[in-house]
Amino acid sequence: MGVVEAVISVTAMTLLGWTISPSSAHPGWGSPWGGGSSGLLPEYYMYTCPQVNDIVLSVLERAFETEPRIAASLLRLHFHDCFVQGCDASVLLDDSPMIGSEKKAGPNLNSLRGFEVIDEIKAKLEEICPETVSCADILALAARGSTVLSGGPNWELPLGRRDSRTASISIANRDIPPPNGTIQNLVTLFQRQGLDEVDLVALSGGHTIGMARCVTFKQRLYNQNGNNQPDSTLERGYYQELKTVCPPSGGDNYISPLDLASPVRFDNTYYKLILWGKGLLTSDEVLLTGRLSTTMELVRAYAEDEGLFFQQFARSMIKMGSIKPLIGFNGEVRRNCRRVN
Ligand code: HEM
Repeated sequence: MGVVEAVISVTAMTLLGWTISPSSAHPGWGSPWGGGSSGLLPEYYMYTCPQVNDIVLSVLERAFETEPRIAASLLRLHFHDCFVQGCDASVLLDDSPMIGSEKKAGPNLNSLRGFEVIDEIKAKLEEICPETVSCADILALAARGSTVLSGGPNWELPLGRRDSRTASISIANRDIPPPNGTIQNLVTLFQRQGLDEVDLVALSGGHTIGMARCVTFKQRLYNQNGNNQPDSTLERGYYQELKTVCPPSGGDNYISPLDLASPVRFDNTYYKLILWGKGLLTSDEVLLTGRLSTTMELVRAYAEDEGLFFQQFARSMIKMGSIKPLIGFNGEVRRNCRRVN
């Protein structure tokens, strides 16, 4: 089979919902279409829902105008989806007799946002291309659109994920990295997903937008190492400022920007702030102070060169978005993202 026939046949098979497993693929397949060996393809909806990206963007743009933070919330939603059972929209399922919702897991409870925007996108898509676009793909498209609307990079996005019929609170609790993680901790949790140290540093750059609650970084202000002392890597002025936002007791849900210089702008100031001791979470600052030379050097490189950060962020988002997708006959395309069909 020639390359052209291979493209046609792989596209047709995908459109028909057949399983294209990396093992059955011709050697070297995948990379020209940007999907790696995941079985995903940028052209997946070319015939079945060509307007999919325009519809996602039109809803996003309106939501973003009202509240720019929504971009950050949607970017994070895709991350929390992909780290639990793969990118299968398991994070969107509500509690039901068969489902223990991941929304109740520690890292997600009172924290994840943006579900209503996903509902709105899904409702529009069901009107125009019914039972076609999966919730997992909507999350991936919303994450990319949010990055672009905030001023960040664009990328060709492999599609064709299907939705899970299950969710897992226990995996969410185990595999989503904690804000007070050590560098080793973070590296291990990323490795578990097939992501390396470059992906860790680049994807952490998602913290160039959005907010965090006091409960996620308060320990750094009052008791970092169990000796009632602040985190010594925290810059002094920033430390004083954060104390005015987060009191020693109470105020757990007060919020502070992850990138205090430009909280709604997707840029490389996140890395510059880390160099100045102004990373908000322990997990941000340890990329520099964790004594791992790879991550340290990457923080410096991205702080210096925004283009380099953008390029790697796009690559790592494609990689994260390709974690264990359900394809072919696996899973389903949910009609409502909150429940299985
Ligand atoms: C490296 C490990 C990571 C840790 C420990 C971590 C932890 C956190 C925490 C604790 C928050 C604040 C949540 C809250 O207060 O409710 C947060 C927010 C956020 N995270 Fe991460 N995160 C990590 C990686 C990522 C990745 C890979 C992305 C996306 C590519 C991401 C995107 C975001 C965004 C955009 C927000 C702000 C959300 C909003 O404002 O609603 N994070 N993260």
